[in-house]
Amino acid sequence: MRPEARHAHPVVAAPDLGAAPLAVRLLGEDWVLWRDAAGAPRAAPDRCPHRGTRLSLGRVCDGQLECPYHGWRFDAAGRCVAIPALPGFQPPASHALAVQPLHEAHGLLWLQPDGGAPRLPPFAGGMLDHLRQLTVGPYDVATSAPRIVENFLDLAHFGFVHEGWLGDRAHAALADYRVEGSADGFVATGCTAWQPQSNRLSTEGSWVRYRYELVAPYAAVLVKLPEQQDGYRDEIALFVCPADEEASRVWFRMAVTDHNSSDAELRAFQHTIFTQDQPVLESQRPRRLPLTGEVHCAADRSSAAYRRYLRENAITFGVQP
Ligand code: FES
Ligand SMILES: [Fe+2]
Repeated sequence: MRPEARHAHPVVAAPDLGAAPLAVRLLGEDWVLWRDAAGAPRAAPDRCPHRGTRLSLGRVCDGQLECPYHGWRFDAAGRCVAIPALPGFQPPASHALAVQPLHEAHGLLWLQPDGGAPRLPPFAGGMLDHLRQLTVGPYDVATSAPRIVENFLDLAHFGFVHEGWLGDRAHAALADYRVEGSADGFVATGCTAWQPQSNRLSTEGSWVRYRYELVAPYAAVLVKLPEQQDGYRDEIALFVCPADEEASRVWFRMAVTDHNSSDAELRAFQHTIFTQDQPVLESQRPRRLPLTGEVHCAADRSSAAYRRYLRENAITFGVQP
């Protein structure tokens, strides 16, 4: 099994999985999600064992997934429990679906294709009692997951892509920052940026201290501390679903000091920032992150660390061969 399958990946925001079956893509495969009779989320390959029909076109009855073609029903464990054309027949174990558990964390449901003990990215450790949390997204982005992660770790684009918001071209020079290995990936510290509008509440430009951590192949967390707003802290996680090699679904999980703004206002700020990134991301060629063939400068230390991480962990999905 590919190394990417040994990590949990976000596939849907928990409130977005309702009563109907839902089709999602992960690592180039089709999955169907539904809720069983107890409301617990389930996942299975989106292919009926009978004739290969997409189960996500069917429906959920009493927590059982019903195929749209001949109405076979599957219970929460994947057992085939009814074949309507043969009412007295007890389907054998060979007719079962390979059900996988879904894990709820950070407002999202996570699927780990290998079915092993979930490896979920850590987020906002120890700070969650003080911070307000919300999910922003999803965004469907026409590029690979590694391109999106690399952009999230990149400080040198602020003055251009986010001019007037997270940066200013007159302050484009980057102070030296450090990159070191961490338990899950690596951490970049000592990052600073001059930001005209660092967050929704900022009223003036400020120097902002940043810390970035790569916490999984397609997940990273930043902490930002604006010097002008005493005690203010934002933690923002980027969680990317690697749907296909060159197509991704993105969520942000925010944990912020701002308890005054409405959810809509906080989402609008993050939306403004990400929709500045998105056209740049979708313009990059190749869409898969190339490990050779691009040129680097000393300001790209985080991106060099990410490429090294991908190589060392044999992560190839979304990476240019
Ligand atoms: S294809 Fe699913 S029940 Fe026949
Ligand atoms: Fe950006």
